[in-house]
Formats: sequence, C-alpha cells, structure tokens
Amino acid sequence: PAKYTSALFTSHVPAIGAAMDLGKTEEPYWKQVFDGYQWTRKWAKENTPDVVILVYNDHATAFDASIIPTFVLGTGVEYPVADEGYGPRPVPDVQGYPEFAAHLAQSIIQDDFDLTLVNEMVVDHGLTVPLSLVYGELGADEQWPVKVIPLAVNVVQYPVPSGRRCYELGKALRRAIDKWDGEELNVQIWGTGGMSHQLQGPRAGLINKEWDNAFLDHLIADPLGLTEWPHMEYVDEAGSEGIELVDWLIARGAMDDQFGGEAPEVDHRFYHVPASNTAVGHLVISNPVGRTAVDFDEAGIAAPADPEA
Ligand code: DHB
Ligand code: FE
Repeated sequence: PAKYTSALFTSHVPAIGAAMDLGKTEEPYWKQVFDGYQWTRKWAKENTPDVVILVYNDHATAFDASIIPTFVLGTGVEYPVADEGYGPRPVPDVQGYPEFAAHLAQSIIQDDFDLTLVNEMVVDHGLTVPLSLVYGELGADEQWPVKVIPLAVNVVQYPVPSGRRCYELGKALRRAIDKWDGEELNVQIWGTGGMSHQLQGPRAGLINKEWDNAFLDHLIADPLGLTEWPHMEYVDEAGSEGIELVDWLIARGAMDDQFGGEAPEVDHRFYHVPASNTAVGHLVISNPVGRTAVDFDEAGIAAPADPEA
C-alpha cells in the first residue's frame, strides 16, 4: 500500500538554484528567500517520503516546439540534470521509480487521462530547484534522499490545460496511489512553479501580491472554487508565467478532503518578493493522520473516509 501524506508547493525560480550553486545564499537578498525554507528543511529531514511525485513544467528543455505533450509522466529509471545554457547544475541526477510509475500510468490512463509516458528525458530547473530548496546543497556525486516521479505539465506552448483539468488529474493520481498493492510507500506530491511573474513584453516584472495570496488562500480552503478560475485569469493577474500555478492543482486535487475526508492541515506558509523576476510562494499541507486507506466501490470510486478510523 501507498499513503499520500503531504503536499509541498514552491516556486522554482532558476536564480535560486544559481544562488545555491554559486554560494550566495548568505547574501542579504537571497537570505530572505532561504529563510522561508528553514522550517521546511528541518521538516523534510523528519518526514522523508519514499517517493516524491514532482509536478513541474519543462521550460522548452526536454521538449520544444517539435513535440508538445500536455501531461508527461516519467516512467524511467534515471533523469540526468539538463544543461540550460551554463552547463548542468552541480546536483545529483534524479532517480526514478519505474515500477510505481508504471502502476500510476496504468491506473490513470485506464481512468481516462491521456498521459504521455517518457522513459528518457533530462530535467531542468523546474524539477531540480525544488529538490535543492528542500534537501539543501548536494553535490553531483551524491544522491537525493528520495526517488522522484516527474509529472510535467505543458504551460509553455498554448493551448495549456485548465486548473480544473489539473485538479481532476490529481484525483485520478490519488485513486492510482490508493490502489498500489506493492511495498509500503510514503508518498508526497509537490506542485511547483509560479507565483506571479512575467519575463518578457511590456508587462515584464509584473508582481501581484494580492492575487498570489488569494490563490494560496483558495488552494488551502477552497480548491473546488479555485478550479473555476479560467486559465486566462492566471495570465491576466499573475503574468504570462503565472500560468505555471495550474501545476499546483494536481497535488491539491489528490488530498483527502477531495475524497470526503477531513481538510488538510497547513504546516507552513511563506511568501516573499522578489527573487529574480518573481514572487516566491511556498506551502506545506498534510493530510490528517489516522486515515490510511480508502475503499473503492465497483466503479473504482473512493468511499468517504470512515470517521471511526
Ligand atoms: C524565471 C524563470 C522561471 O521558469 C520561473 O519559473 C521563474 C523565474 C526567471 O528567469 O527569473
Ligand atoms: Fe518556470
């Protein structure tokens, strides 16, 4: 069996990775960013899952205009760190989990979501910067403490998926997790990207603190309402790259309250401007303890949580 314990959300600003790689984390500008992750690093040491399903977006690194998959599930053994123009970041390559990923693919595709399965790809800052933020500085010859299943969402080339679609995929992902009957697994799902930022054009540098915090509020307490926000609202309010935030809805859609259980607990929340050209948002929420398994009816629909359990 597998248990989905916590969701973690974070921006994945490439300059954060560069600040770590170049030893600038103690500089006042960057210290303010990294201070927001101190709680998380301690928590992460005490709550290391077996596997992280890491929802992110590729930035025309592994994919480009030649192929535009909406949802990619990484089913490979290993994912090398990409060279994004300055050589690969000096961090460990990422170890996958092919058996569990194959199970997720089987369940999610049979649950009517068309995933693209990818066994070989490089991973860019969208995936490695969150790992660095949470697990700290590790050299290329070391190992991340978790296996990672990459889940890449296309938010670079239009058309992009809606928040609702991502949320529904999260529910399908959770049904898949709950059906695993292999080895005992502790699973986290991370949603990365955002928050408000626009990197080019007349609105370059746009930051919208009010909207970002409303997004966090609704993500915590009103995820279903959040699914009604059209993708153009993300772009209008949070900038052209703010659309990365739809990635977060996948991790949220998989949480217990979407299956009739209790609302998640907010463990940590952080918001800071600026980091490079963006606002940094970070949130850790956990499924309430005491609920370990979900029953399925014949149609494969999860039953509400047993209040006695
Ligand atoms: C930048 C790029 C990103 O992909 C992102 O998510 C945030 C910031 C940047 O170039 O500053
Ligand atoms: Fe990005």
